[in-house]
This record gives sequence, C-alpha cells and structure tokens, in this order.
Amino acid sequence: MAPSYHRLGEVPRKRHVAFRTSEGELLTEEVVGTEGFSGTYSILYHRYAPTRVLKVAEVEPVPPAPTPANDTTLRHHLLRTLGALTPGADELAGRTWLAWNDDIRIAVSAFGPEPGRFVRNGGADELHFVHQGAGTLESVFGRLAYTEGDYVAIPKGTTHRWVPTTSGNHHFVVESPATIRLPARYQHDGQLLEHAPYWERDFRKPTELIAADDPSPYDVWVRVGDRTAVYTLDHNPLDVVGWDGHLYPYAFSIHDFEPISGRQHQPPHVHQTFELAGAVVCSFVPRRLDDGPDVVTAPYNHANLDSDEILYYVSGNFFSRRGIEPGAVTLHPRGIPHGPAPGVAEKSIGQTTTEELAVMVDTFRPLTLAATAEPLDDPDYPTSWVR
Ligand SMILES: [Fe+2]
Repeated sequence: MAPSYHRLGEVPRKRHVAFRTSEGELLTEEVVGTEGFSGTYSILYHRYAPTRVLKVAEVEPVPPAPTPANDTTLRHHLLRTLGALTPGADELAGRTWLAWNDDIRIAVSAFGPEPGRFVRNGGADELHFVHQGAGTLESVFGRLAYTEGDYVAIPKGTTHRWVPTTSGNHHFVVESPATIRLPARYQHDGQLLEHAPYWERDFRKPTELIAADDPSPYDVWVRVGDRTAVYTLDHNPLDVVGWDGHLYPYAFSIHDFEPISGRQHQPPHVHQTFELAGAVVCSFVPRRLDDGPDVVTAPYNHANLDSDEILYYVSGNFFSRRGIEPGAVTLHPRGIPHGPAPGVAEKSIGQTTTEELAVMVDTFRPLTLAATAEPLDDPDYPTSWVR
C-alpha cells in the first residue's frame, strides 16, 4: 500500500466509463485491487487488453523454490553475502534464498547491468532494499528511479522489470503474500502523522509513463508461490496511458528515515519502517545515541521471545558486533539470547553517535534456513561471544 493517492497520465472524470484515445479507440480499463476489492486499489487504462495472451508455458521457477538447509541445528547464523554470489543475468536469476516461512521469503540478489525480464509476482508483495546499484524500475505504473539506500516496494500483480544503470547490483529482498504497508500507528485518515519517522514527501512515486504501443510478442514471467508460467502477450505490457489510486510501486530512501533517540535505549519499535502479516521491517540509521546519565548505549542482551530476527548490515561500524562486514546477514532464532560482543557494553558508555546502517526483519513465526544460504554461513558464529 502506497502512502498516498497518486495519478499519472490521463484518466476519465468518472470510473468505469468509456475512455478513448484521440483517434477514438476505446482504452481498456483494469482494476487492480487487494483483499477482495475491499482493500487498496488502482485503476489503469491500457492501450491493449491485458488478457491478450498468445501462449502459456509452465516453466521451472527462477530461482528454484527454497529447500531446507542440511544442518538444521537450532543456532545463530552469520551469512556473508557481498562478493559471495555469482551475479545472475537479471534480478530474478540473481536471487539466493536465505530463509523463509509461510508469511515471508527472504533473499539477496546479485545481478549484472542488463535490463531484466518482465516479471509479475502474482502471489506476493516485494520489498527490495538496494544495497548496491541504481537504475529504473519500469512497470505498468511508469518509471521509478532508484538508487543505493532505497527501499523499493512493488505490490503483487505489478508487471515490471529492473533496468539497472550500474554493473554491480546487490539487493536484500523480502516477499510477502500479505500486503507490505506502512505501520497503521503512523497514519490517521490516510495521512502520515507528526510522530512518524517519515512523511509523504519522503516517498517517491512513478514519474513518467512508458505507454508503449508495440503490437509484437512479449514474455511475462508470472510467479505465484512455487509455480511460474511464461505468458506470451501480443503486445508490450507496459502500455498504460493513465492510472490513479493507492496501489503502485514506490521508493523510500533509508537515508530519509528520521531516527528517534532519547535519554535511554529506545526499543526496536522506533526503528519500524514497514509492517506485514507475520513480520516487521525496521531501519537502523546513523543517529545520536542515548544521552542519559551513565547509560550503556550498546543494546542489552536480549531474547525476543516470539520472533526470529534477521539483520542485514549495510554500512558503518555496527557497534554491537565485531567482524561483521557490509552485506552480512545474521539470523538470530527465538529461544537463544544474543547481544553485544564482549567489551562493547563498557566501551559504549559515553559514546554519543553511531554510523551504523542496517535493515532488520523480525518474523513472528520461526524461519527455516535455506539450503542455498548454507555455503554463506560461518559455523563459528554461535560461539563468537566468548572470543
Ligand atoms: Fe537483536
């Protein structure tokens, strides 16, 4: 769900009425809506009906469906992802599953500079954190520029492709069958409130329609769960000449997240950026540290009893841990406490700022480590607190 209503291109004055090109051709209206059309929706006007399909072919999913790791030991994991992956031909081919449950799938994706295939994830919203790379997300909703540090949210059902302008691209990717939204407590009557860590002006929307008029065959990779089919349309699917509504891809830079600090350690809630059924996504950004008398600014040892925690380290010196480089991912399952490295608590007293930048996903149901994450895993991590 996007943070506000948006309109791009031409739309008729009323919904569901005849809308024609200047040559008199009737345009095709499409309503894309969530939750049985009781939820957020947008209305798009296509040059060609989106149902104009020449061929349907079932294919093996890309990437292959996640399977559990061989080592199922209940323990903390440290996965080093940057430079450890073979870049794929595009964002989808470059994905490596890290962990998943029924509510969420978590991956990293490394890919090259070529424009990607057309994809429609019909089964899940996607949230990409762009660690490295920049370019344009092209979709039926138009062009959306993105760069390093951006979250890019793509609602399910959005036909799109990634068009990078950079050779090295590294994304942290979350897929959720439920809508990925801004937390309800930040909003009232559709407006972001004064206490929210961001405002409408911080969210970037598609700026320019593609409005392709190309009646030649185009393949769209349609994904729902572990099923993938290639749909060959008889036209370029990015043919929308106008749309409006609350459902569309948008970008938000983690550098625009306004951190909240206080006299004492602030709980993870102040870092929350997105919510979805079964998980929260939080941003840890450079900020003033707690400045009360005698405070230990390093986080306390903690046991989040009802969550598994994934942390994706972006940059800065993540001050509670040592030996964790950018692109590293920690998985701290429930049932096992974790906390600062030895000596860090003492050193943190009197520290006034932190430059750490990280994305956290806390899931309410246990995560399964993916077999594809195993080669990235440091087996010594669980005992790293005594070294
Ligand atoms: Fe934690």
